[in-house]
Order: sequence, then C-alpha cells, then structure tokens
Amino acid sequence: MSDTIILPDRGAAARPTPKPGVLDIAPYVPGKAKVEGVAEPLKLSANENVLGASPLAKAAYASAVDSLHVYPDGRASGLREAIAQRFRLAPERLVFGCGSDEIFQLLNQAFLEPGDNIVQGQYGFGAYAIGARACQGEVRTAPEPGYRIDVDEILAQVDARTRIVFIANPGNPTGTYVTGEAVRRLHAGLAPSVILVLDGAYAEFVDDPAFEDGVDLARDSENVVVTRTFSKLHGLAALRVGWAYMPAAIADAVDRIRLPFNLNVPAQLAAVAALGDDDFQARTLALMAQWRPWLAQQLGGLGLEPVPSAANFVLVGFPRTPGRTAAEAAAFLERRGLIVRGVAGYGLPDHLRITVGLEAHNRAVVEALADFMKG
Ligand SMILES: Cc1ncc(COP(=O)(O)O)c(C=O)c1O
Repeated sequence: MSDTIILPDRGAAARPTPKPGVLDIAPYVPGKAKVEGVAEPLKLSANENVLGASPLAKAAYASAVDSLHVYPDGRASGLREAIAQRFRLAPERLVFGCGSDEIFQLLNQAFLEPGDNIVQGQYGFGAYAIGARACQGEVRTAPEPGYRIDVDEILAQVDARTRIVFIANPGNPTGTYVTGEAVRRLHAGLAPSVILVLDGAYAEFVDDPAFEDGVDLARDSENVVVTRTFSKLHGLAALRVGWAYMPAAIADAVDRIRLPFNLNVPAQLAAVAALGDDDFQARTLALMAQWRPWLAQQLGGLGLEPVPSAANFVLVGFPRTPGRTAAEAAAFLERRGLIVRGVAGYGLPDHLRITVGLEAHNRAVVEALADFMKG
C-alpha cells in the first residue's frame, strides 16, 4: 500500500473547520450605499452607470415576468449568439458568468492546486485573490510604479508554480491601462502553460488607439482569456452578467465546474437587448468623454493628484496633512450626501476613487472638495 495518502485529521477538531487559507481571506467590504441622516445620497462609489440601464434592456427584463417558473437556458444560447456575432467570435469559446467575478473564480478553481500561485499587479482587483486563496493558492503581487501595470515587474513574479496572471486593463482602482504592445510583450514572456487573463471590465471606456482589448490576441492563442462585463457600459450591474472568450480547452474545463444555471432568464434577455442598444452605449461613452477629463482637471486644480484614468472613475490622491486627508475628505463628502470609495484596502490610504457622474454630480463633488480644501 505504498500509495496510501495520509490526510490531516481535521475530524478531531471540536467544530467544522474551513480548509487552510479560507479564514485568511479578508471579508469583502463593499462601498457604502447609505449615509445616516441623508435620505437619498448620491452613490459614486461603485463605478455603476450613472445613466441607469438601457431602456431596451429594461423592456427585455420586464418581458421575462411570465417565464419566472422556467429554468434558464444553461448555455445562454441567445446571448452567446449575440456576442459571437458582435465581436466575430467562435460561440463555443464563450463562457458566461454571474458577473465576470464568477469567471475569475471558476478559472482559479479549475487551474489552481494548493501551492500554485497567481500573479497580479500591486493594486489588482480584489476578486482574483479571493478565488486563488480559496484554492489554497499563493497571491503574488508585482509593483505598479506610477499606479500602472509594469510588464517586467509582473514577469519577475512568475515562477514554475504560476498558473494564472490576472491583469485588469484598465485597472480598478487605478484607472490606468497598458498598451496592446505591452500586453503582447507580457504574453510572449509567459510559458504556454500559464493563463493570461485580460479583464476588460472597463475596456470600452478607453479612447487611446494604442489600447487593444486583447480579443485578437486571444483568438490565436491557447492561453489567453479575455473577460468582459455588462455591469459598467451597459448599466446592468444588478443582473450580474459577465462573459469570457477563451481557448476551447480552457472553456471545456471551466464549463465542467460552472453551475448550469448561473445566468438567470431576465439577465440573459436584458443583456442581449443592451448589446443591441447602440444609442445607450454611445450616450454613456459621450458622458465619459465630456466629464472624465473635466473632473480630473478640476481635482488637479484643487491641488489634489488625479491619476490619469481611462475608465469610468477617477482615482485621486490627497495630502497627508491632518484636516486634508483622503479619509477626512470622504467623511466630508458624505456629510454632503456624496458617497465615494475609500481604497485603503487596496493599499492606497491617501486616495479616493470617484465614479464619473452626471454634470450635476461632478460639479457637486468638485464644489464640496473645494470647500474641504479651503477648510
Ligand atoms: C476590474 C474589474 N473587473 C471585474 C469587475 C466585476 O464585474 P462584474 O460586475 O461583471 O462581476 C469589476 C467590478 O467592479 C472590476 O472593477
């Protein structure tokens, strides 16, 4: 019996014990949605679409009311077809998730064994690490000088136990991006056994032609996964729809552990309608084109340090001077009914992340911060 595996005796514990690593995961702290004493605060803390959702998507959602008793199509066939056509992708290489969050989780689950690692940037989006730690994986973080992913720093973290490199492009909470050329260099530096995940939650908001969403790279490779979401551009965060384009072999593995009905009926219908609502998408992008630079420029004018953003939010740095700190600014804004996101949990205690809002929202934020800085 030389191949007997001796398992640790967890049964001897006095109560059910989570597997190692689970209790080391810091509980997720969501952005605030309420302020005491303020009836309807303005939430600029979750990078939601401030225009709401596409009217076509709302109508499609409502049309589901008579089929609530029916299980969803586990292949999301309608949505699969719509995305395949829109982006010219092979339908069988698409995988859908309850938000793109679920897809990161599934990739970790399918590819990480205890002791393997993932590599991400220093300010990497929180969901990658949660899934990796739940698989008893190690999370390696590469410095992001100037709040930007650095290809060489990422490659320096990769070793023989690296299974996945996660890059949000643009990043959250930084809002910065790396060019298509840099992404291709990163890919070229990875062994074929390492999966490169390009998380494009904010990809539609980038207007630099040097940016590439990674779809073309993924088309011809065996180890690139591109993820997208309906939560931002399409304003469907509540419905939880994400998708990924990946090599067939990876899709096959992920689909085997995916729960069959992870995308509900109204979500599938609304996502198809949203994808076809060019007018709503154009209005969202126009809002960003007008107000993102304005917000950044105004914040800079107050003596703050906005990080150049390509997403639908701006990360802004505050001084450490007592009375002028990021935490105090967040509290000040809250008293005016404006909720923004503290990002100390990302190792950025001197910054706040502010979703770009409608004109009135942006003006209210700038006015409040002007008063705060005057003190
Ligand atoms: C970088 C990044 N990736 C993924 C997501 C998750 O999006 P979803 O709503 O599709 O789970 C977010 C959400 O904020 C994000 O900021």
